[in-house]
Amino acid sequence: MSNKMWGGRFGSGPDPIMEDINVSIDVDRHLYRQDIAASKAHAAMLAKQGIIPAQDAKQIAHGLDTILSEIESGKFAFKRALEDIHMNVESRLAELIGPAAGRLHTARSRNDQVATDFRLWVRDAIDEIDAALAAYQRALAEKALAHAATVMPGFTHLQPAQPVTFGHHLLAYVEMAARDRGRFADARGRLNENPLGAGALAGTSFAIDRAMTAKALGFARVMANSLDAVAARDFVLETLAACAITAAHLSRFAEEIVIWSSPLTGLIRLSDKFTTGSSMMPQKRNPDAAELVRAKTGRIIGALVGLLTVIKGLPLAYQKDLQEDKEGAIDAIAALNLSLAAMTGMVRDMEPDAARMQEAAGEGYSTATDLADWLTRALKVPFREAHHIAGRIVAKAAEANVPLDKLPLPLMQAIEPRITKAVFGVLSVANSVKSRSAYGGTAPSNVRAQAKRWLKRLEKKQ
Ligand code: ARG
Repeated sequence: MSNKMWGGRFGSGPDPIMEDINVSIDVDRHLYRQDIAASKAHAAMLAKQGIIPAQDAKQIAHGLDTILSEIESGKFAFKRALEDIHMNVESRLAELIGPAAGRLHTARSRNDQVATDFRLWVRDAIDEIDAALAAYQRALAEKALAHAATVMPGFTHLQPAQPVTFGHHLLAYVEMAARDRGRFADARGRLNENPLGAGALAGTSFAIDRAMTAKALGFARVMANSLDAVAARDFVLETLAACAITAAHLSRFAEEIVIWSSPLTGLIRLSDKFTTGSSMMPQKRNPDAAELVRAKTGRIIGALVGLLTVIKGLPLAYQKDLQEDKEGAIDAIAALNLSLAAMTGMVRDMEPDAARMQEAAGEGYSTATDLADWLTRALKVPFREAHHIAGRIVAKAAEANVPLDKLPLPLMQAIEPRITKAVFGVLSVANSVKSRSAYGGTAPSNVRAQAKRWLKRLEKKQ
C-alpha cells in the first residue's frame, strides 16, 4: 500500500530497505512535545486568519492534547510506516477527530515543521544544560570557599611550578563554565526565531500570520527568508560547538581528577559513590566516572564534526540529508548532561588530602620564583639576574638534597653575600601563596572573595 500521507501518485509501497533508511521516528519521537506545541500554534493561527474554520481548529487542539497525554503515558503506538513524528501525530489526529485533521497541514510543510520543532527542542536543551552548568559552578565555588587556603602544587608542563591553592584551581573551572554558559546563551539568542510559515521552501500563498505563531512559541522574531528557514542548521552546529567546548573543559578537569586521585600523587580522595572496584584486584578504587566524562568528549565532538560534514556541500533548500541532524545532537546533549551531573557529584564529594597537598606543594623547589622576587625586591637586583642567582641556589639545594627553606644561610650567601635571614620569610609554601594577592592571583584572601562573589551571583541568577 502506498503512503496515505503522500502516496497519491505512488502505485506501490516502499521496499523494506527504503523504509529502513528513510524512517526517523526512532529519533524524532524525542520531539513530540515541540511538534504538538507547534501544531497547536499553527492551527490557532489558521483559524484566526480565517483559513480554517474555528470549530475545526478547536477539534484539532483538543485532539493534539489527547495525543500528548497518550504519548506521555506510554499509550501511543508509534508506527515506522508513518516515517516520522509529524506524520505519526497527524495520522493519529485523523483517527481521533476525523476529516478536520486534514486541515492542519494547510500552509505548512514537514520542512518548516521539522525546522520549527528542532529549534524549540534545542532551545529547551540549552536551558537544561545552562541549569546543569550553574549547579556545577555552584559545587565548584562551594568547594573553593572551603579550601581557599588549602595549598597544592600548581603545574606547568605537569612539573611542580609554583604553589597555588586548591580553591584557586577549582575557581578556574568556574570561570570556564561561565564562558561556556555565555556561548550557549549566544546560540540561544540567535536560534530563537520562527521558521514556521516558510512552507516547503518558497513560502505560502495563504494569508498566514507568522508573528502570531512566533509569539505563541516564544520565538523572538520571524525568519525573513523561507529558503534559509528550512535549510539552516547552523543553530544545531553552534549549539554542538558550545557542547564540544564545554565537554573539552570537563575532560581537562576529569583528567586532573584521574591524576590527583591516583595513589601516585594522592592529592584527592573521591567518594565511594563516584568510584568503582575491580573484579580481580580487591584494593582498587577506580575513577571511572571521571574517565567516562573524559571519553564522552569523543562522541560530543563527533556529533559536531558529523553534522558539519552533512551540511558541507548541501545545496538549498531542504535535502533529506538534513534528517541526519538530530541523532548525533540528541546523543551529544544527553552525554553532556550526564557528564555535567557526574562532575557536579564528584566535585561535591571530593576531599583533598591537605597534608599530602602541602607536602607536594613544596616539592621541586616550587618557591624558587619567590626567592628571585625577594632578591629583586629586597636587594634591588634586576629580575633577570635574580632569576640566575635563584637558579644557582636551587642547584646548591639539590646538591645538598634539601628543600629551599632548609638550605643553610651561609650556603646561600656563598652565592649572593647580601642575602639575609629575612629571605626565609618568602620560602615557605604558605607565604608564597599568601603573597600572590594581586588581582587574579592565588592568595587565599583573593580566592575567598572570588568564591563568595560567584556564590552570590549564582544564587541571584538561579
Ligand atoms: N523527518 C524529516 C526530517 O527530520 C522531516 C522532514 C521531511 N521532509 C520531507 N520533505 N521529506 O528532516
